[in-house]
Formats: sequence, structure tokens, C-alpha cells
Amino acid sequence: MARILGIESTCDETAAAVVADGRTVLSNVVASQAHLHAIYRGVVPEIASRAHIENILPVLRESLTAAKLNLNDIDAISIAHRPGLIGSLLIGVTAAKTLAWSLGKPLIGVDHVHAHLYSVLLNDNAEPRTPNPEPSFPALGLVISGGHTALYEMKSFADVQLIGSTIDDAVGEAYDKVSAILGQGYPGGPILDQLAAAGDPNAIHFPRTLLARDSLDFSFSGLKTAVLYHVRGVPTKGQPIKQIARTLDRQQLADIAASFQAACIDVITTKLKRASRKFNARSILIGGGVSANRGLRAALKQFPLPVYFPALQYCTDNAAMSAALAHLFYEKKEFSPLSLDAFPQSQFSYVPSNPR
Ligand code: KG4
Ligand code: ZN
Repeated sequence: MARILGIESTCDETAAAVVADGRTVLSNVVASQAHLHAIYRGVVPEIASRAHIENILPVLRESLTAAKLNLNDIDAISIAHRPGLIGSLLIGVTAAKTLAWSLGKPLIGVDHVHAHLYSVLLNDNAEPRTPNPEPSFPALGLVISGGHTALYEMKSFADVQLIGSTIDDAVGEAYDKVSAILGQGYPGGPILDQLAAAGDPNAIHFPRTLLARDSLDFSFSGLKTAVLYHVRGVPTKGQPIKQIARTLDRQQLADIAASFQAACIDVITTKLKRASRKFNARSILIGGGVSANRGLRAALKQFPLPVYFPALQYCTDNAAMSAALAHLFYEKKEFSPLSLDAFPQSQFSYVPSNPR
């Protein structure tokens, strides 16, 4: 049984996890910095880097204690070394390289967005075990988070091609910004998800931006602006937008959240239908923070293909998903050199033939 210690520090979560055989999570420790960034309504890179430095050793220690293991029981160290905030990535990369070098264990660098796709396979080390899903390939992979809205054709977990991406805001970013427009907290996704449950999704018709007829790309900035104009009024010549939002009661907030969420879900569902026809997909895998969304999960129950979501604790950033993905490379003995670097961009490049 191969046990991989994973490290995650791409954005504002410092995380470490131990995963056995790429599936079974022996420990999963996440130190969220959300409270440090909340007053800025977004991640401040310098604050994030400093917090990673403070958190990394306690988080690593706790991940071993929770797994009832010590460093010598670990077979390899994995690190999400891209994409992300460079200052944040460097803390995790340095910790991972230091451990790999000092223990003489292999180092495995993985792509954070690729790892989000793998999170659907994670299984808690608890009885009774939930059986691991075995998605049929070719599959579509969709990562929807605060930093990414990316659609992939997956021939297998290892053979992944980017087929669509956001041309402006990521969907999670739109949730966070709409939450700010409504005077609600950060991160906005869980707050709007909760509000939406009590609202009418047909109360306001917000735009669904689908781009060209066969485009697999996404755009959420128009939807976000539509919510802004709904709340503060449409600017006209000589009449700028109001700086202060009109007072909204609880029901109005819920209706806006539900209508915004309905537009996001419609766009996501339409793109998944387009892509599944084009690539003859047999299943859909969805990961990333927004995959925790209750409205989206409920809507995709009607989807004509099997749709796999991660368990809730593996939707948002964590290290278990990268330790699990690293197992694929471990089995093939594809290790990273100790010169492994951090990169702000994902390893998946855009397919230019896709019309925007
Ligand atoms: O995957 P993640 O932790 O970080 C990135 O890689 O970006 O995703 C964080 C994002 C935030 O934008 C947050 O608002 C959103 O996921 N999110 C949600 C929900 N829970 C988290 N969005 C919609 N509904 C949710 N329940
Ligand atoms: Zn992420």
C-alpha cells in the first residue's frame, strides 16, 4: 500500500493530507485563511503567503498525527505546484522539496486543477465505506472554483485536454462578487447557496451568456453586472450608478440569489450538454468549490449522463486530491526533480480551434 503525503498551498488554504493507494484518505487537514481575507472580500496575496508560512508546519504535523503515522511511513511527497499565487505556491513547494530531500522519498508535482477532477474518487477511511465511483470514459471534467471555470475532455484520469474556459470571471468569483454587491460576506458561494434555497429562481430574469452557438467557453461578468444594475440601478447619461445599494429585505435577497444561481446553473448545464454531444461523453466529473452548490447538485440529477461530485469536504481546496492524483504518477514512477518550480498557470493550455 502506497501512502502519499500531499501538500496544498496554491491560494488561501494551507493543507496537508495522507492518502493510501490514491483513494483512501487517512487524514485531511485544512487551515483556511478565509477570516484573514474576508474584510478585503478577496484573497490578498501577501497576507496569504505569510499565513502559509505560519500554518505549514503545524498542518503537516497534524496530518501525520491524524493518520497515526510518522514521516518514515510515507512513500512519497506530493505538491500542487501550479496554478496559483506564486508566493503561496513557493511555501508549499519548498516544504515538499525539503521533506522529499531530507527523507530520500520521491517528490511528485501535480496540477491543482487536474487534482480537483480527481477529488470525486476520494473515500474517507471510515466504515461503512462508500464505494468509489468508477466513471466511464470518455468523460467530461468540469472544475468550477473561485479561480477556475475549466472544461476538459477526459479519455482517462491521466489523459486530460482543456476544451473550454472562462473568458472573464470564474463562476466562484462571480458568486463572491455578487455576495459583495448584496452586502453579504466572503466567500460568497455558501452564503448565496443558502439564501437561494429560500428564494424564487424565476423572480428576476438575469442573462445567460452562452457565447457562440458551439462555444464551450464561459463568461460570467455580464451576469455579475446585471445583478449590480438590478441592485443599484442602470446608469444613464448624466446619472451614474448609485454608490449605495438600495435596502433589500430578506426575501428580495433570497430572490436575487436564487435568480443569479439559476442563471449560473443554466449556463453550466447548457455547456455540459454541448460538450457531451461533441465528445460523446459517457459521464461527467465535477470538482472545485462551486461543486458544493446544492442547487447545482439538485439540477444535475436530471442530467442524461451519470454526474459525479466529490464529497463536500473535498470540493474546496484540500491536499487529499493532489495526494490521490499523485498516486497515478507514483505507480508509473514518474517523479519530479528537486528543481521543481512553482508556476502561476495550469499545465493545460487552451485548444485554439475552439471558437470563442
Ligand atoms: O476550489 P476552491 O476552494 O478554491 C479555488 O481553487 O478557487 O473554491 C472556492 C470558491 C469560492 O469562490 C466560493 O465562493 C465557492 O468556491 N463556493 C461555492 C460554494 N462553496 C464554495 N460556490 C457556490 N456554492 C457553494 N456552496
Ligand atoms: Zn482549487
